[in-house]
Amino acid sequence: MALHSFSLIALLLWARTCLAANLDDWKAKSIYQVVTDRFALPSDNGAPCDTAMRRYCGGSWEGVIQKLDYIQGMGFDAVWISPVVSNVEGQSAYGEAYHGYWPQDLNTVNKHFGSSDDLKRLSSALHARGMYLMVDIVVNHMGPNTSAAQDFTSSSAFASYQPAPLSSASSYHNFHFVSGTSYSSTTPNQTDIEQGWLGDTSAPLPDVNTENPEVVTLMNTWIKNLVTEYGVDGLRIDTAKHVRKDFWPDFVASAGVFSMGEVLSDDVGYASPYTSVMDSILDYPTYFALFSAFSSGAGKGNLSALAAATSASQREYKHGAVALGSFLENQDQPRLQSKTQDMALVMNAIAWTFVNDGIPIVYYGQEQGYTGSNDPDNREALWLSGYTTDKPLVKHITSLNRARKAAMSANKDFLTTPVTFITPNTNMLAVSKPPLLTLLTNAGSSTQEVSWTLPGNAFAGGDGSDLIDALTCAKVNVVKTSSGGFSIRAKAGMPQVLMPASNSNVCQGQQNSSPSQNTSHRWTMPLAFGLIACLYSYI
Ligand SMILES: *[C@@H]1O[C@H](CO)[C@@H](O)[C@H](O)[C@H]1NC(C)=O
Ligand SMILES: *[C@@H]1O[C@H](CO)[C@@H](O)[C@H](O)[C@H]1NC(C)=O
Ligand SMILES: *[C@@H]1O[C@H](CO)[C@@H](O)[C@H](O)[C@H]1NC(C)=O
Ligand SMILES: *[C@@H]1O[C@H](CO)[C@@H](O)[C@H](O)[C@H]1NC(C)=O
Repeated sequence: MALHSFSLIALLLWARTCLAANLDDWKAKSIYQVVTDRFALPSDNGAPCDTAMRRYCGGSWEGVIQKLDYIQGMGFDAVWISPVVSNVEGQSAYGEAYHGYWPQDLNTVNKHFGSSDDLKRLSSALHARGMYLMVDIVVNHMGPNTSAAQDFTSSSAFASYQPAPLSSASSYHNFHFVSGTSYSSTTPNQTDIEQGWLGDTSAPLPDVNTENPEVVTLMNTWIKNLVTEYGVDGLRIDTAKHVRKDFWPDFVASAGVFSMGEVLSDDVGYASPYTSVMDSILDYPTYFALFSAFSSGAGKGNLSALAAATSASQREYKHGAVALGSFLENQDQPRLQSKTQDMALVMNAIAWTFVNDGIPIVYYGQEQGYTGSNDPDNREALWLSGYTTDKPLVKHITSLNRARKAAMSANKDFLTTPVTFITPNTNMLAVSKPPLLTLLTNAGSSTQEVSWTLPGNAFAGGDGSDLIDALTCAKVNVVKTSSGGFSIRAKAGMPQVLMPASNSNVCQGQQNSSPSQNTSHRWTMPLAFGLIACLYSYI
C-alpha cells in the first residue's frame, strides 16, 4: 500500500518533469510579449494611461485572460508576461515599479496585477488553449528603496529596507555602480558588469551577491517553487549578463523549463558564451542589425549586415541561431515606428522576425502600429487601441504566424534547417528556409518596383511554377531567365513570403480567422499523447 502510493507520487512527479516545456517544445512557439500593467484592464473602462508619468495604469493578469482570444487570434501560442513578484511600492525618481523590474519580495506576487490565484488562472487558461506561459524574472538586483536615496555602505541599510528574503548586507555586492567604461571598452570589465550595481544615485539597484552560496541555494529553490506553483513553461531572464555565467547552469536546471536570457550586446562574440549556460538568449546582435537595416529610411540601411549577424550567430552559438528570441521591439528599445512609418519598411522588418531561425517575439502594440520611442514612451496602454483586428499589421502578423506553421507542417525539419541567404546586398535580401523563400527589401513604399534575380536552385525541390505569397495569398509571377535562373518582382517595396501552394494550406480560411472560443481539445490531445509518451519511456 505504502509502496503503491509512493510509486504513484513518484510517477506523478516524474510525469510533471517530463511535461515541463523544454528547448525543443519552445522552438515551434511564437511569443507575444506583454507589459502586464499596460496590456489589458480587468474591466475595460478605457482608463487613461500617461506613459510619461511612469505610474501603474491598472493592467492585470485577469486582463490578459480576457484578451487571450485577441492574442491567439493572431496565431501566437505563448505569452511572455513582465515580472510577477512584489516590487517596491511608492514613487522613486523614476516613478513606480509598474514594469516589474524592481523586486522587493520574491515570495509574494505583485498585488497590482492580481492575486496568486489570478496568476494560476492565467497559467491554466493558457494551457487550456495549448499555449505556453513565459515569466520574466530578475535575479541580478532588487528594486531601489523609493523612500530615500539610501546610504548602502552602512550595514544597517538592508535591515531598514528589508527586501525579502535577502535582507542582510552579505546578500549584496558592496555598493558601487557599474562604471560606464566597463561597457564601452573593447574588452569589457566583466567583473565590474557582474558585481557592480545598476541604476544611479536617485534609484540604486542593490546588486544580489550571486557568489554567496546561501544566495545561490535560495535563488535555486525560489525558481523551482515559482515554476512549479504557477505552471510556468519558460523563463525570460532579465539582465543575465550582470550575473556570473557559472551561476546559470544550476539555476536553469532547478527551474526545469526553457530559459531565454537578456544579454544586451551587439557583439555575437560577447553574447555567445551565454548560449552554453542557458537554453537561449534574446537575439540582440541581430536586433541591432535589423533595426538599423529598416529604421534609417528608404534605401539607407544595410541588409547585408543583417545577414552577416545571423551567419555569425549560426557559427558561434551553441544551438546555432535556432531558438534565439527573434524580436524587433521590446520594453527597453524605441519602437520601429518612432523612427519610420513607411509601411513597407515596417512590414519587411516584422517579416524578418518570423522567417529566420529564431523564435518569433512580438512586443504588444507593434500590431496596432504604436510609435512610442524610448522608455517610458514605448509602454503605451493597449486598451487605448480598442484591440482592433482590422488593421494592416494585425493581418500581416497573423499571416506570418500562419506561414510559419504551414512551413513546419510541410517540412518536418523546417525549424532546425538554418537559413541561408541568396546574394544579399545592402537593399535586398532573399532568405531561404525551405519551404519558405522570403524576399526582403528596404527600398521603401515609394519605390514602384524591385526585381530579384535568383539562381536556378532558389526554390528547394521545385521549379517555382506554383508559388504563392503567403502575405497576400496571390500567385507569384516567376519568370525564367535565359541563364537558367528566375526573376521576381515586388511592388511598392513590400516583402514577400513565398511557398509552394501545393504543400500548404496557408491561405485557406484566411477570410474568417476568429479563434474558436472552445479550444480545450487542442490541449487535451497533445497532453494525452505527451503523457502516454512519458509513461512509455518510464516503463
Ligand atoms: C527605505 O529607506 C528609508 C530611509 O532610510 C527607511 O526608513 C525605510 O524603511 C526603507 N525601506 C523601504 C522599504 O522603503
Ligand atoms: C574591474 O572592475 C572591478 C570591480 O569593479 C575592479 O575591482 C577592477 O579593478 C576592474 N579591473 C580593471 C582592469 O579595470
Ligand atoms: C554592409 O554590411 C556588410 C556586412 O557586414 C559590410 O561588409 C558592408 O561594408 C556594409 N555596407 C555598407 C554600405 O555599410
Ligand atoms: C465546448 O465543447 C464542449 C464539448 O464539445 C461543449 O459541450 C460545450 O458546449 C462547448 N462550449 C462552448 C463555449 O462552445
